[in-house]
Amino acid sequence: MTDTAAAPESRPVDWWKSAVVYQIYPRSFADSNGDGIGDIPGITGRLDYLADLGVDVVWLSPVYSSPQDDNGYDISDYTDIDPTFGRLSDLDDLIAGLHERGMKLVMDLVVNHTSDEHAWFQESRDPASPKRDWYWWRPARDGVEPGTPGAEPTNWEAAFSGSTWAYDERSGEYYLHLFSPKQPDLNWENPEVRRAVYEMMNWWVDRGVDGFRMDVINLISKPAELTDGVVVPGRTYAPAFELVANGHRLHEFLQEMNAAVGLDAKRLLTVGEMPGSTVEFARDVTDPARGELNMVFTFEHVSLDAQPGGLKWDLQDLHLPVLKQNLAAWQTGLADAGWNSLYWDNHDQPRAVSRFGDDSPAFRVASAKTLASVQHLHKGTPYVYQGEEFGMTNTNFVEIGQYRDIESVNYHAEAMSLGLEVELVMHSLALRSRDNARTPVQWDDSSHAGFTQGIPWLPVNPNYVTVNAAAAEADPDSPLHHMRRLIALRHELPVVVEGRFELLLPDHEQLWVLTRTLGDQQVLVVANCSSRPARVPAGSLPDLTGARSLLTTHGESTSDDLAPWESRIFLLG
Ligand code: NOJ
Repeated sequence: MTDTAAAPESRPVDWWKSAVVYQIYPRSFADSNGDGIGDIPGITGRLDYLADLGVDVVWLSPVYSSPQDDNGYDISDYTDIDPTFGRLSDLDDLIAGLHERGMKLVMDLVVNHTSDEHAWFQESRDPASPKRDWYWWRPARDGVEPGTPGAEPTNWEAAFSGSTWAYDERSGEYYLHLFSPKQPDLNWENPEVRRAVYEMMNWWVDRGVDGFRMDVINLISKPAELTDGVVVPGRTYAPAFELVANGHRLHEFLQEMNAAVGLDAKRLLTVGEMPGSTVEFARDVTDPARGELNMVFTFEHVSLDAQPGGLKWDLQDLHLPVLKQNLAAWQTGLADAGWNSLYWDNHDQPRAVSRFGDDSPAFRVASAKTLASVQHLHKGTPYVYQGEEFGMTNTNFVEIGQYRDIESVNYHAEAMSLGLEVELVMHSLALRSRDNARTPVQWDDSSHAGFTQGIPWLPVNPNYVTVNAAAAEADPDSPLHHMRRLIALRHELPVVVEGRFELLLPDHEQLWVLTRTLGDQQVLVVANCSSRPARVPAGSLPDLTGARSLLTTHGESTSDDLAPWESRIFLLG
């Protein structure tokens, strides 16, 4: 662990550059009370596991009061804990337990929208209320009967299907929800809304949290005028995000938030989730001179296996050169100003080893390790999603009734109503559903993988008998031990943190080769990201004479031949 647990103001300004963040999706991490749902005491009981892994920061997905329409990303009280997850005192214990072990806590900040059950929205429903303007209320389209199809103020499509507008009979107006109807969008144009959000953030900072992961934060600044988008043939509504993302006041709002909460002054970690952000935009947001955020989550590399302009369910093959060149563009784009976050998966994405690696028994372990090596040796702050460290895979649901995620369930319903072929729809769900990431963490080979004494809210992946944390701990060649070494490398070698990035062999279909250079030190990564043997083209690598091997998947070797998913990390100079 880096020495970062000190009083916030005494931390190095950019301590988060040498940190590794571990994401916990609380519902699926560890259940302490047998109700089948993970909870905060369950997390606190596993802190030694995280400390042993060596991570510096835990990012906790939402645990606030919530009707759980979107598993907590619909918050009804920002300053209380949902009983599903525990109590405020449990969170205080978690913060204390992390700090005692030199780790930090980053909370999820979901302020593009609240729950429709939040007191602010309840008040806002009354047209005469001073909070009416805290949300986006609009009359029906001119000349169309309110509440009838086509009367929505704009033709925008919500993230979880249908219109972004819900009709409220009481006032005869519509409210905007970019996600589900139970997630009304806050109106950031209203200064009182912004003040209330900053006040809430300060409340958490005073309670000891060390930063914020900001949910869809680039959607908070809506266009000055809400106008129709272009409907893609075959669909009813127009994509909304591209009309709303990276809005004209976003930089201003982020700078105001930074100053009001003292995000930089208090050395807090800030990472903004930004679907639709370009590298140029991310560079502005993360340029420290501008006082906005430390880093953003790009969506580009997790969109390359979907058809351009289509939905995430419209699959296409992913080609390695496209993937590595995309990440390289972000590396180059943020080389002089700004900072990257590095992730393969999270609670919204399929499992990394199933999507980018090969989760067959022959290659699961090697591909999980090689993917981790490639990720952690790019320049930026790596994020590890629970279970990724020991190579958890996608699950094997075959019926729609097994899915719980609102996005998956709504997509299926819509696809069926449009007459799409059921096999195709189930295939897309199997590969892309967010539930793949949400099955319980597989701790050991006991019943329900040691996740709960009760019935898990989402079935455990049947492969838990062999794929579990205890088995990985017992095997020195497991992805878990590999990840531990990668994290240690970052803490030991400044070149891993600060080294200049270069991609070699950008067009190679199997090999991912990169260097990182700082002063006279250079790190070289040679990775075969395919399930076939690969050969390094003659003369394409730096001279390996005197090179020190730092970490490999298949033992020490400088041969030009690499086994499927073999990777090697060398220190030169
Ligand atoms: C992004 C979150 O990561 C996702 O889980 C959620 O559904 C949406 N934002 C809405 O909050």
